Amino acid sequence: MRKKIVAGNWKMNMDYTSGMTLFSEVINMVNDEARGDQEVIVCPPSLFVYSLAQLAKGSSKVSVGAQNCHQADSGAFTGEISASQVKSVGAEYVILGHSERRQYFGENNELLAQKTDAVLKNGLRPIFCIGETLEERNQNVHFQLIKEQLEQGVFHLAEADFAKVVLAYEPVWAIGTGVTASPEQAQEIHAFIRKEIEAKYGVEVAENTTILYGGSCNPKNAAELFSQADIDGGLIGGASLKSRDFTDIVKAFNIQ
Ligand code: PGA
Repeated sequence: MRKKIVAGNWKMNMDYTSGMTLFSEVINMVNDEARGDQEVIVCPPSLFVYSLAQLAKGSSKVSVGAQNCHQADSGAFTGEISASQVKSVGAEYVILGHSERRQYFGENNELLAQKTDAVLKNGLRPIFCIGETLEERNQNVHFQLIKEQLEQGVFHLAEADFAKVVLAYEPVWAIGTGVTASPEQAQEIHAFIRKEIEAKYGVEVAENTTILYGGSCNPKNAAELFSQADIDGGLIGGASLKSRDFTDIVKAFNIQ
């Protein structure tokens, strides 16, 4: 059975004190309220990863991730952090290929394939984001685009490595806009992604791959999205900044 995951992406929000308060609240609520088979991941700005990972040590349900890392192990890359550094402060995951990284920092599939390798080599798991813009959807090239993002970003991996990847389908037009993909729209793409995985790695790997939905997911729409056959949880931006909202999304699995 594939894992159900709710991951929070704080992006460049929160200062240290407010972040620690938020995370303490999330840990307390999740420990009380999440189902045993669920995992909750919080991805703060990298400055806070160490402190959050220390707090998460006592929780079997909550872990911590970074929002990005460099593809090299070390070196003269001022301002960057490596996967081994992320690992050394207690994180378990790294978000890769978020549309904001693709759009504002020019990250392409080729670079993201290198980052994926670095993350896996260092014993971390990527949360690998894919998804189309509104223009691409309107031009009806979104299936092809998603296929390319998969093929060029993660399908070079050997099966054992691919099995560690969490995928996140995030339609760019739904991120931070308040416009959510309908459960049917999201399910259609998730089923397509799972079919592509099946074609590449076989049915067992496909059935075991966790595929998250991201884009204006909130406590009101989470239960319906998560009840779709191929949606295994969410990558949450805005709603991860309020402990009650985030925990209500975590609880949405229980009310299907
Ligand atoms: P949002 O962001 O929930 O604020 O739309 C999702 C994301 O960017 O991962």
